[in-house]
Amino acid sequence: MGAVIEVIQGDITVLDVDVIVNAANSSLLGGGGVDGAIHRAAGPLLLEECTKIAAAKPADHACPTGEAVITGAYRLSCKKVIHTVGPVWHGGRYGEAELLASCYRKTLLLAEKSGLKTIAFPNISTGVYGYPKDKAAAIAVETVRSVLKETPKITRVLFVCFDQENLKLYRRLLG
Ligand code: APR
Repeated sequence: MGAVIEVIQGDITVLDVDVIVNAANSSLLGGGGVDGAIHRAAGPLLLEECTKIAAAKPADHACPTGEAVITGAYRLSCKKVIHTVGPVWHGGRYGEAELLASCYRKTLLLAEKSGLKTIAFPNISTGVYGYPKDKAAAIAVETVRSVLKETPKITRVLFVCFDQENLKLYRRLLG
């Protein structure tokens, strides 16, 4: 029985899943959007852990674009947070699609390796980073469907849409 893939609308920080995914930046030191919401809900110990991770890496490459890093979840109801850094949209000729796919792929593989079974994704790169929502949604669904064949322990994937446009796009893609 393969994993269940669902779409919901709402705030990712309140979900009771094993791991929620953060659309972070490469410094891992927080920001606005979903990054800000996750840090606010998790409390200061999340930033403390991210700061330690960042201190051990070359400047501003705590998490390169397309990569994923796992931390505790602190005051959040989930067990872990996986921070991934999506590409900034620059028109589509700079490898953005591959980098966005890499975020979903590496995050799922990291969740599998960490024994996490249920995972919630925000719509990575479609806010501040300006990725066209329709293109991003197609990459997210296609990549997750294909990587789930390699991650048998993952039983449930939630796409958490914050805005109506993303919700409609994901609902259409998932039928
Ligand atoms: N729950 C779920 N989704 C949310 C929430 C929330 N609480 N808050 C915002 N979102 C949605 C946005 O509406 C958007 O659809 O998350 C999606 C991703 O948007 P951003 O958070 O702006 O992330 P991104 O486009 O990947 O840009 C990342 O923004 O916050 C900074 O530090 C972050 O520099 C990084 C950049």
